[in-house]
Amino acid sequence: MPAEHRASPVPEPAPVPSEAPSTLRRRTFIAASGVAVGGAVAAPALLGAEPAADAQPAGEGTSSRVAVTVNGRRVTVTVDNRTSLLDLLREHLDLPGTKKGCDAGACGACTVLVDGRRVNGCLTLAVRLDGAEITTIEGLANGDDLHPLQQAFIEQDAFQCGFCTPGQIMSGVGCIREGRTRSAGDIREWMSGNICRCGCYPKIVRAVEQTAKGR
Ligand code: FES
Ligand code: FES
Repeated sequence: MPAEHRASPVPEPAPVPSEAPSTLRRRTFIAASGVAVGGAVAAPALLGAEPAADAQPAGEGTSSRVAVTVNGRRVTVTVDNRTSLLDLLREHLDLPGTKKGCDAGACGACTVLVDGRRVNGCLTLAVRLDGAEITTIEGLANGDDLHPLQQAFIEQDAFQCGFCTPGQIMSGVGCIREGRTRSAGDIREWMSGNICRCGCYPKIVRAVEQTAKGR
């Protein structure tokens, strides 16, 4: 279903970063906010990662130790068994680029890659990811060199408030890797789980198209 046709359950857009919009350099914003992908690519995102068989109990059955590689860095943390991947990233690993919109799998703001697959972080339990490789918006750029899709978002002016952008970009990266970019309609379909309350869909699609053609 084309994203434009989806009802938007996203709450009010998050506050724009402290710097005034008029002066904020879009390149800096897109890199720092993780603006890059958003995406609730619904169906594929919800597939999630396979359960980990070796998550290790660390307490009275209410918490577990989980070891994951996030943006190339191996980390081991003990979390409440109910902790979502989204909260693991934002609250435990200090990676706020991945956004919490609905926290219910409906908006795609929390999209990240788990072992290369698009996943809604809010619907994925952290303890099921032991051994997984996770990529967030903070891990896309190579130093000062933005990921091509991040650059395309800037060139296509594909965001306004930027709240959905990290999820859109991560979803777009997944969409391109999956080869779901044969047409604009294809992109809209496979990114239909990523809601943009600002209505930037045409430009988002163009950014994904541009990047896919440049592969
Ligand atoms: Fe909305 Fe996860 S799908 S925050
Ligand atoms: Fe504002 Fe998408 S929700 S740019």
